[in-house]
Amino acid sequence: MPRIAVAEGDGIGKEVIPVAMKVLGTVRPDLESFPVEVGYGRWERTGEAITPAEIEAMKGADAVLFGAVTTPPDPGYRSVVVRIRKELDLYANVRPVKGGDADIVIVRENTEGLYAGVEKIGPDRATSLRVITRRGSERIARFACTLAKDRRHLTVGHKANVLKADTLFRDTCIAIAKENGIPFQEKFIDALCLDVLQHPNNYDVIVTENMFGDILSDVAAYLVGGLGMLPSANIGDHSALFEPVHGSAPKHAGRNTANPVAAIRSGAMLLEYLGDRENAARIEEAIGQVIESGVKTRDLGGSAGTGEMGEAIVAALAR
Ligand code: NAI
Ligand code: MG
Repeated sequence: MPRIAVAEGDGIGKEVIPVAMKVLGTVRPDLESFPVEVGYGRWERTGEAITPAEIEAMKGADAVLFGAVTTPPDPGYRSVVVRIRKELDLYANVRPVKGGDADIVIVRENTEGLYAGVEKIGPDRATSLRVITRRGSERIARFACTLAKDRRHLTVGHKANVLKADTLFRDTCIAIAKENGIPFQEKFIDALCLDVLQHPNNYDVIVTENMFGDILSDVAAYLVGGLGMLPSANIGDHSALFEPVHGSAPKHAGRNTANPVAAIRSGAMLLEYLGDRENAARIEEAIGQVIESGVKTRDLGGSAGTGEMGEAIVAALAR
């Protein structure tokens, strides 16, 4: 029986994750889960946002469902998500963008690049080092090619014309695509951000460095109704964590206005990871039916509350 760790986190994480758990429980009553408390709320209460005990608990689970955490601009505060990604070595951030004309999977390198954390902040000069390694590029390229094998093709998004470090990333991705017989194209990341909106159909699996993938996925959210719709997976060789792309959205917190779909879809991705494609597909279908029927949260132009939309999805699954 699969056991999952559930970290609601802060803000709307506390509202959308219980809804996602209700949906998961509807299709998989056998799923065992246990709560893990992490985030800013915990930091305020105890002085620690996360401890080694939570990291160990997540490592011991078959998968983690994660909401969102608030990261205050306090220099003494270390980002919980970045720490978890690092400690569990979740090197592949997978962000599917599906709906309308789009059926795209963005595969973002999750451990190095411009977010490697190699920074020097002086009064008059501040630098953040962009770290690209052969090992990091190879493993993300292999991951993207494995996905692309069952799909159409691969796009390598980069800026090797200006950033010489990206040459290593680009060349490694292209070599691995060739090795695996995957049809590929390469594109400069700035042009790609526009073209993905204008011609979503030209894209399938897209692989990028850390920051480029972060930005590209928020851009691409425009194709499917915004951040409230986008799920993601953080995958490593031994662990996996599933979370909405959005953050804790303090403006919406406690108001029953957050869209739970991104969190529910993250739950569907978790099931797929555990090998349950059938129920993952059922959840996707139920979400489609409910939106079609007009039950929508405000970000989608409707008036349904977070819980109401969740109940509608549970009801669609029961039909
Ligand atoms: P955010 O994603 O929380 O919210 C940006 C805006 O997107 C919101 O104001 C809202 O209009 C909309 N939005 C996001 N999710 C929505 C949903 N489910 N339903 C309806 N509308 C939604 O990003 P923001 O405001 O930049 O960050 C807020 C906090 O979240 C910060 O403390 C930030 O550090 C943190 N954050 C955490 C992440 C994580 O835990 N993985 C990721 C991104 C931000
Ligand atoms: Mg982001």
